[in-house]
Order: sequence, then structure tokens, then C-alpha cells
Amino acid sequence: MALKITVIGTGYLGATHAAAMAELGFEVMGLDVVPEKIDKLRRGEVPMYEPGLEELLRRHVAGIEGSTGRLRFTMDWAELGEFGDVHFVCVNTPQRHGEYACDMSYVDSAIASLAPHLKDPALVVGKSTVPVGSADRLAAYLAEHAPAGADAELAWNPEFLREGFAVQDTLHPDRIVVGVRSERSEKLLREVYATPVEEGSPFVVTDFPTAELVKTSANSFLATKISFINAMAELCEATGGDVAKLAEAIGYDDRIGRKFLRAGIGFGGGCLPKDIRAFMARAGELGADQALTFLREIDSINMRQRGRMVELTRQELGGGPFLGKRVAVLGATFKPDSDDVRDSPALNVAGQIHLQGGQVTVYDPKGMDNARRIFPTLGYADSALEAVRGAHVVLHLTEWQEFRELDPAELGEVAAERVVLDGRNALDAEAWRRAGWRFRAMGRPGA
Ligand code: UGA
Repeated sequence: MALKITVIGTGYLGATHAAAMAELGFEVMGLDVVPEKIDKLRRGEVPMYEPGLEELLRRHVAGIEGSTGRLRFTMDWAELGEFGDVHFVCVNTPQRHGEYACDMSYVDSAIASLAPHLKDPALVVGKSTVPVGSADRLAAYLAEHAPAGADAELAWNPEFLREGFAVQDTLHPDRIVVGVRSERSEKLLREVYATPVEEGSPFVVTDFPTAELVKTSANSFLATKISFINAMAELCEATGGDVAKLAEAIGYDDRIGRKFLRAGIGFGGGCLPKDIRAFMARAGELGADQALTFLREIDSINMRQRGRMVELTRQELGGGPFLGKRVAVLGATFKPDSDDVRDSPALNVAGQIHLQGGQVTVYDPKGMDNARRIFPTLGYADSALEAVRGAHVVLHLTEWQEFRELDPAELGEVAAERVVLDGRNALDAEAWRRAGWRFRAMGRPGA
């Protein structure tokens, strides 16, 4: 009989995973502790902006016309425990307030709520990003608290999906990593992922600590790449070099590669910043902090880019205070194709200038509601053109396709001054210059 799958937590990760599992043909039950999320999902609405996810969800949510009905949602742990053979834990592990370490309370409480309902043999699969050592601890907890005892097994299966590509990354992962302790667990996970494995996704079997470390080390490596190129951007600025050319040239070496070498205002979001911090905190607990001291530098190079963007803006405005200066900010989300503004470099820069007296007007294609919620005192406009109207300087801070398609001549008509700063190295400098703009970008030669 086909496996029945449950997904605990319906954020980016969980909602996408649940819909993807239904797409692969399984009967799926999703659980969340927030009633509004469940209500929305039952109506086939996704609580965030993620391209393609709503369509995928609507194809499977029970009760929606024309759907396969394979995907249902509940808030009832007993129903979930009864239903599933394989339970995926997809809850959030945010940074702990005032600390570097990650907050494991959602994972711990998910496992504690599920355990008493595991009466038959079941596999619980952690997907959340956790400090190394967690799986070991949680496996012991399950064996002790589940009525099925040692037959309530644990596996760790980190997730590598990117916001904006969540559906594609989940259905066609570039690798599947499973930390397991038994053949039975491995067999079950091979069954779950049979389709992507047949299509060519590598299936890497490891122990618990390796699986946990794969995730945090992958994100640390990506963060390191970005901070590396941003450090090179600082050197390019000091020497008159061009970091975009430099990235292109070193990227042709396929040991280095082109990807994740875009210099600019740096990385943000709900993952990279908190993951490198949690990794450092965990290394400290393990007495291995020296191994990761370089991540402190990665973090500080990254945070410095936001301040450098503020200073570049100040320079372009004549070097004095921001008082009385109108600043248009294009982009609020931490990356394009997402409405996520968590630790967004764009909003951080907008906020810093605003707090120093600048009159900032922000426009973002999808992130306006979330931006307003966390930064209600900034100005907001309904379009890029409206944000730019009357501005002394335009900052391009999130590289949405829509911004690359803007007509610099049209914007030039409404701006007070034709000065644009590209914080993402993504605009066509020549096109802007041709339309009479002074164009500056981080790590590139001046106007
Ligand atoms: C990241 C990882 O890329 C995923 O593999 C991982 O699964 C996910 O975290 C997670 O841990 O859940 P995501 O947070 O969606 O995914 O964002 P990224 O695409 O990694 O971008 C992170 C930040 O780096 C963005 O602010 C982006 O603008 C910035 N970035 C990216 C650069 O500044 N330069 C680049 O060249 C690339």
C-alpha cells in the first residue's frame, strides 16, 4: 500500500513539501498550530508569495474543484499520528532573541506533541535546520515517549530549497541527503523519493551528525562566497577595479564557478544569516569554535555592505546629512521572487537612511505588505515610477526582473536628480547612462 505522509509546520518549507509529496502521488496530511494558516491552506491559498506554489497546492487540496484530493490539513495531533507512516518535521528554527544560537522550541514541541500518538511503527523525518547533535537527542526522546518505542524511528533529511524556486527545488532536488540509523529508515526514504531519484537526483546516505552538518556547511559556504566577492568589491573600489568583471573572470574556472558571486549589499533572509550564527554558537558549545571563527568575518563583511551602501548614497548626495533628501528605494524583500523581508538588506539600508532623516520612499513588487508591517514609518509608493518621482537619488536594492525592465528615460523625466546606485549589480549601466543618469554600483568604477 502507498505510504501516507504527514508534514508538520506549513511555512515555506512545509507547505511546499506537503504539496510536492501530493504531486509525487502520496496521500498527505499537513498540520500547523496556527488556525489562520490552516484555514487558508484548506481554501488552497498560500500564506506567502512563492511562484508556482499556489497552483501546485490547488491541484491537490481536498475539497477544491478538480483537485486530486490527496492533500488535507489538520490541527489535530491524534489524527496526524494515526494517519501517517512517515512524518516530516518542517517547523522553523529562528535565531534566539539576543543570542547567536538557534531556537529549537518549535522542533522540540512538534516532537513532544507527536510522540504520544505514535502507536504503530513510524518514521519521523527532521527537515528543519538544526544544531548538530539534535537528531541524536530527538531520536532518544522519541524512543522513550512514543508508545511504539524503538519502532518510532528518526531520520534527518535536510532541505536545500531556495525561496523563489521552492517548487522546482523540492520536486527536482539537486541532491537528497538522508541521515539514518537503520535499513528500514533508508528503505522508507528511498520509497518517498523514488521519483526524483529515478530522474537523477543523487541520494546520499549518511549518519545523523553528517546530515545535520551538510545543511549548515552548505549555507556557510554560500555565505562565504557572497562575502568573499563583497570583500573583493571593497578592494576594487580602493583600486579602481571592476568586481563584476573580476567575478566573471574567476568564475570561468569551474572549480570556482560563476554562481553566488554577485557583489552588492549582501545576503539576508531567514536562513543564511541565522544559520552561520547558530553554527558558530554550536561550534562554541562543542569546543570547536576556532574552526568557525572565519564565519564571524563572513558575517561582519556582510553586515558592512549595508553601511557601505548608506555611505555611498550619502556621498552621491553631497556628503552631508540626509535631512531634506528624497531617496527612492527599489526593492524591499531580501531577494527577488519572494515577499520575505526577514533580515532584508534592502529594508535595512532604507531604514538606516530614514532614521538619519532622509525621506525614503520604497517600492517592491511583492513585499510591500510585509515591509509596511515591520517598517511602518517608511514611505511607500505603488510603483517604481511613483517611488522615483521627485527623488534626489534612486537605490536599486533587490534585483527584481521588473526593475531591469524599467525605462531609465521615463524615470529620468520624474526624478529630481538623475542619480542611481545599483546595490545588486544587476542593472544595465550603459542604458541608464545613455538616458543621462549618473550610475554607481558597489565595487565598480564610478559614473
Ligand atoms: C538559502 C540557500 O540558498 C538554500 O539552499 C537553503 O535551502 C535555504 O537558504 C535554507 O536554508 O532554507 P534562500 O534563503 O532562499 O536560500 O536565499 P539565497 O538564494 O541563498 O539568497 C540569500 C541571500 O544572498 C539573498 O539576500 C541574496 O540577495 C544574496 N545573494 C545571493 C547575494 O548577495 N549575492 C549572490 O551572488 C547570491
